[in-house]
Amino acid sequence: MRLSLSTLVALLPFYLEAVTAQGSSGNGKTTRYWDCCKPSCGWPKKSNGNSPVQTCDKNDRALNDGGNTKSGCDNGGNAFMCSSQSPWAVNETVAYGWAAVNIAGSNEASWCCACYELTFTSGPVQGKKLIVQATNTGGDLGNNHFDLAIPGGGVGLFNACTNQYGAPSNGWGDRYGGIHSKSDCSGFPAALKAGCNFRFDWFKGADNPSVSFRQVACPAAITAKSGCTRNNDAINETPTGDRTVPTWTP
Ligand SMILES: *[C@@H]1O[C@H](CO)[C@@H](O)[C@H](O)[C@H]1NC(C)=O
Repeated sequence: MRLSLSTLVALLPFYLEAVTAQGSSGNGKTTRYWDCCKPSCGWPKKSNGNSPVQTCDKNDRALNDGGNTKSGCDNGGNAFMCSSQSPWAVNETVAYGWAAVNIAGSNEASWCCACYELTFTSGPVQGKKLIVQATNTGGDLGNNHFDLAIPGGGVGLFNACTNQYGAPSNGWGDRYGGIHSKSDCSGFPAALKAGCNFRFDWFKGADNPSVSFRQVACPAAITAKSGCTRNNDAINETPTGDRTVPTWTP
C-alpha cells in the first residue's frame, strides 16, 4: 500500500511522540562526589559520538589522548577528571555541570554525554535547575541517580585526589559527602576552589536534594568544556534558555 500525503500528515503526531519518547524523564535522587578519577565516559566508544570526555593529566592539562590513558585511580594511571568540569552558575536559577548517572531501564551507551535538566524538588535549592552532562557512572548508583560532580563533594569508592592534589588519604572531609563548610574550600587547590564554593553559594549547601529530570539537548557551553557530543543529540526538547551563556558570578 502506498501512503497518501494525508495519511502521512495524520501519522505525524504519532511519529513526533515516538521521537519525544527517546528522551528519558522522571524523578530521581542526587548525591555529590569529586574523586579526581578519569570518568568512565572518558574511554573511547562509550557514547555514540566521536570523542570521549576530555580528561587531564596530573597537572590538570588536557590529555587529548583519544581516551586511551589509564585512570589516575589505577596504579600508575595518569588520566584524571579535569577541573574545568566543575559546575558553575549561569544565573541565580540555572547552573551547568556534570554528573555520574544511572538511568532506570537504560545503559551507559545511551546516557554517556547525554544532558539532563534537573529541577530540584527539595531542600534550599527547590525550583532551581541544574543542567548536567553525564560523564560517568558508578556501580553504587541506584535507579535515576545523579551523582553531581562538585569538588570537595567526597571521593566515594575511589580516590585519585591524593595522587593528583595531595588530598588526605580519604579525600577532603568525609569519604561520602566531603567537606562541611565553605571555609574548607579556602585550602583547596586553586583550580578546584570555584567549584568547591559553588556548593555553598548557588547550591546553598543543599544535601542530596531530590530532582525531577528530563533529557535535553546539551548546551554548547557544556560540550565545549567536556569535548564530548552525542550523535543525534537534538532531542526535540531544548534546555532552559540559550545554548551559549556567559558565566555568572554572585
Ligand atoms: C537564567 O539563565 C537561563 C539560561 O540562559 C535563562 O533561560 C533564564 O531566563 C535566566 N534567568 C534569570 C532569572 O535571569
